[in-house]
Amino acid sequence: MNRRTFLKIAGSASVIVAAGGVGFVATRTPTDALKPWLKAGSLYSDPMRRSLSYAILAPNPHNRQPWLVELKSDTEAVLTCDLDRLLPATDPFSRQIVIGLGCFLELFSLAARDQGYHAVIRVFPEGGSTDALDDRPIAHLSLAKAGELMPDPLFAQVLNRHTNRNPYDEGRAIGDDILQHLHEAASANVRVGTTGQAARLNDLRMLTRDAMFGEMKTPEAHWESIQLMRIGRAEIEANPDGISLGGPLLEALKLTGMLTREGLSDPASRSFQMGLDMIEKGAMISMGFVWINTLGNDRTAQIEAGRAYMRVALRATTDGLAVQPMSQALQEYPAMAPYYEKAHDWLTDQPDERVQMLARLGYAKTVGPAPRWPLKTRLKAS
Ligand SMILES: Cc1cc2nc3c(=O)[nH]c(=O)nc-3n(C[C@H](O)[C@H](O)[C@H](O)COP(=O)(O)O)c2cc1C
Repeated sequence: MNRRTFLKIAGSASVIVAAGGVGFVATRTPTDALKPWLKAGSLYSDPMRRSLSYAILAPNPHNRQPWLVELKSDTEAVLTCDLDRLLPATDPFSRQIVIGLGCFLELFSLAARDQGYHAVIRVFPEGGSTDALDDRPIAHLSLAKAGELMPDPLFAQVLNRHTNRNPYDEGRAIGDDILQHLHEAASANVRVGTTGQAARLNDLRMLTRDAMFGEMKTPEAHWESIQLMRIGRAEIEANPDGISLGGPLLEALKLTGMLTREGLSDPASRSFQMGLDMIEKGAMISMGFVWINTLGNDRTAQIEAGRAYMRVALRATTDGLAVQPMSQALQEYPAMAPYYEKAHDWLTDQPDERVQMLARLGYAKTVGPAPRWPLKTRLKAS
């Protein structure tokens, strides 16, 4: 069977029928894995756990959800990183893991504010190494009842924000006013860059595509992603983290043996080629990009980048704009060096400026939420 025939079969949904038809389609949603989105804010009455139940919905690399929280009281807690949830091949210094923890802290702060509390966040209170994370705290969290706190409108988008990997609408450009909103959403601690314009736009499309191809062709890096794939409902419910490949079609392809981990890791296979095609479509139809830079690259800068990305993604959601981080060119393992150099050459002005996040933008069909571990599984006994 050649690739064209394979795609036709996948498209015709005959594989779904082979796997069980309509009844099969109706039962493929991993309902438990999505409950944290439905239950956010409603399971707990104390402000700390209420705020944390929103924070666990933060974007984070490969959906590893590396947060672990030790509760000290209803208004005090310590955030650490679960060192079993790192990404050593693609994120050797855990820079991206820390960015994800920054996203978590921003959601925590927004949720606290919504309840009338000021979140006091002290990051790396015992210091931190930039080479490797250890079990020292990422942040000390406390909540102080505040008199007059203006609600932040970004909080309203927390449950609507999702990383959108769909193809973007080629015919719909992004207005300068919309890009300006993204600049305004971030704090003054970072530098936000955007483009919706022809020359740089095409450079970045090709850069993100080539870096992703480069990652797929680097066995250790690609294998790290494959091991974290959860294919189909049962795998997603058992491990509501990692890269979830859900939905009736992908699950049917798995059941009929057309989608396997071995196939995904073999450059000669159809699944691998389909992966390359999807990357090409995704990257080359980016209608704009946003990037977040910091001066220096210490752990505090990485947290600030995460907090800013969180705000930028929420603001994009407000404007109906889809966002997908395209991180490969910013990663620090050797195969990414040529892309890293180009990204920094194009997107920075100063020698110690660092591009922490790069994401594509556009208008697209909306997507649903990604699985999460419930908060209670991420709480550590004190
Ligand atoms: C630092 C960081 C890097 C990320 N890099 C990528 C990426 O390269 N490609 C991608 O599709 N998603 C990327 N993501 C998005 C995550 O995969 C996503 O947040 C996670 O799967 C949870 O899904 P959600 O954002 O829809 O809640 C990244 C997120 C963060 C915070």
